[in-house]
Amino acid sequence: MKSLRLLLGLFAVVVLGACVARGQVDSARLGNADVEPGQWMSYGRGWDEQRFSPLDLINDRNVAGLGLAWYADLDTYRGIQSTPLVVDGVLYNVSVWNVVTAYDARSGRVLWRFDPKVASQWARLACCGPSARGIALWQGRVYIGALDGRLIAVDARNGKQVWSVQTFDRSWAYSITGAPRVFDGKVVIGNGGADYGVRGYVTAYDALTGKQLWRFFTVPGDPSKGPDGAASDSVMPIAAKTWTGEWWKYGGGGTVWDSIVYDPQLKLVYLGTGNGAPHAQHFRSPGGGDNLFLCSIVAVDAETGVYRWHYQMVPDEQWDFTCTQPMVLADLNIQGRKRQVLMQAPKNGFFYVLDRATGELISAKTYVPNLWATEIDLKTGRPKVNPGAYLTETPELMTPNWMAAHSWNPMSYSPKTGLVYFPAQEQWNVQARVADTDFKWVPFRSNTGISYTSQPERRKALQVIADSREKGYLLAWDPVNQREAFRVPYPYPGSGGVLTTAGNLLVQGTINRTLAIYGADDGRKLWEMPTQSVPIAGPMTYTVEGVQYIAVNVGWGGSPVHGLAVEPTPVRFGPGRLMVFRLGAGVALPPMPPPSDVPPPPPLRATEAQVRQGQKLYGETCSRCHGENAIGGLKDLRFMARETRAEFNAIVLDGIRKDKGMIGFRDLLSEDDAAAINAYLVARANEDWQDYIARQVTH
Ligand code: HEC
Repeated sequence: MKSLRLLLGLFAVVVLGACVARGQVDSARLGNADVEPGQWMSYGRGWDEQRFSPLDLINDRNVAGLGLAWYADLDTYRGIQSTPLVVDGVLYNVSVWNVVTAYDARSGRVLWRFDPKVASQWARLACCGPSARGIALWQGRVYIGALDGRLIAVDARNGKQVWSVQTFDRSWAYSITGAPRVFDGKVVIGNGGADYGVRGYVTAYDALTGKQLWRFFTVPGDPSKGPDGAASDSVMPIAAKTWTGEWWKYGGGGTVWDSIVYDPQLKLVYLGTGNGAPHAQHFRSPGGGDNLFLCSIVAVDAETGVYRWHYQMVPDEQWDFTCTQPMVLADLNIQGRKRQVLMQAPKNGFFYVLDRATGELISAKTYVPNLWATEIDLKTGRPKVNPGAYLTETPELMTPNWMAAHSWNPMSYSPKTGLVYFPAQEQWNVQARVADTDFKWVPFRSNTGISYTSQPERRKALQVIADSREKGYLLAWDPVNQREAFRVPYPYPGSGGVLTTAGNLLVQGTINRTLAIYGADDGRKLWEMPTQSVPIAGPMTYTVEGVQYIAVNVGWGGSPVHGLAVEPTPVRFGPGRLMVFRLGAGVALPPMPPPSDVPPPPPLRATEAQVRQGQKLYGETCSRCHGENAIGGLKDLRFMARETRAEFNAIVLDGIRKDKGMIGFRDLLSEDDAAAINAYLVARANEDWQDYIARQVTH
């Protein structure tokens, strides 16, 4: 009898085990992520998003034996931002254009692929390519927030679509790049678009059916239209008191384009909100005001979406500062008290520790040189903003800037070391707003109210200083004492997200085109391997059948950095790839494609007026993706192949490179406009060519 029961039990395990649908994540599993450290079930691993793994099979004593186990090409050269998920031996990954692939996590064998067929014009609305930061898993389904606004549920067994809902009105310039988050049967998604002009919000849907459950707007709408009939209605009158003018015509901004974190103990969802639209407050809310809830953390009730508390990091937002950066939850011992905290290192360069039950500011300290604010008043929670930091029509030096002291690249908190790790950047720029007569709001164009051309001589002198001060490093930060523990310096900004493990590993993709592993306790380098491109995404780790793997997506270009301009151009990158490592493996990557020849720029034949006009148009339409002053960015346009120059108008107006994320601008630009931009780029190339040749010789 006993043996029969045993046999039946065994039978149940084997048969049920075989029948269990794939991707069966639920509250019990995700809420106890440490019980199954071999899985990586959610964007930041657990709901706390610490990106610390209890796995220690790979550790500081044996990591020297780490090698490439398998890799998969991702069909792109850039903008790979996503963290893969692994559940029960299957690795789910999302590449550009929201194409999701399920792999056998041990071998890399493709199990299925789902392509939501996002139309290429959507790339124009994403600053950094048609990127996606992640997907979510829940009860046998994979959730995709597509660039074009669809939230799609597909079957985790076979990649077949189950349902799809449109999450935004396509007549506004919204897009989705952030990972959906799931808890208690609800899938939550935000959106981006504040640089173009939209009103931010977050929506919760029923994970089973796709039915909308609640929506929270982060900024007030048109007051003449009355309440939205949304969860945010209870707090919008309070927010509206902090605005002036007719902001709703420009959207207002506050988009939640990345971090959304769920707290299962307090049953709260934390939303990190973005910048104002337009950037210059002078045009958005001309009478000033805090402009709630721009650049804030807003806590809402997980069940209903109703407002609970907020903390605004950047009142008067006008620097394109966003507070959408990763939020990490932890319990910290602060001055003898155990506190439930939320930690964030947003674009403005301050590291914040908040009490996540109440929103009270516990501490804040800048982690980079900071011209924006000297300190944060702990009594009022308000920054002491440097009076010279406010935007005027006069170009001034600024740091941190819109390119961020730290952007979306995931950060990690190790409970073992008590430290938080993230890629910090010192990026400087020259900031000014356009003259009142020059501000024009054009739908579906980048609408910032920022000037790129005024007082050219002054700008040029300041830009030299700005360029000379760029720095990037991996920062290990002590959040209790708000001070640096150690740093690993890099030649320039732009390194990737971070993972820590119980094996004392600190894993990061570097701007040197490598994956590097350091000791989490002291930052000494333990291992490094060339990856041909920069792994800017968050690395992750998992086990299958008792073997630990480390996986990372490789593919540079997911957030604006201009520092690479100091390298001999053109900067070379290998293709975007998912790379998976384990001890004792030794797969080799194919060799890098040969360098393309960069011919000298053609002589400048345009008039000065044409170049000036081109510079203005470039600033308005191109600089967000291709870099201020045509330096760096996604693709450095000072240096182009002959064929590219020959096809310039077809690329810029007709979008013949749209599959690579370069969409045509015929709706905004004429042939003359394109010719003027080309003239400006030829002028810039000639200005910098001698310098380029000189650097080629010395390298
Ligand atoms: C939303 C981002 C975005 C904007 C805005 C944008 N581009 Fe691009 N552009 C791209 C991407 C992505 C590529 C493809 C890079 C690659 O080949 O991998 C590209 C490629 C190009 C290329 C080909 C460069 C080469 O050497 O292969 C040209 C030329 C170009 N862009 C011109 C422009 C001009 C001019 C503007 C402004 C009118 C502009 N772009 C605005 C994203 C953008």
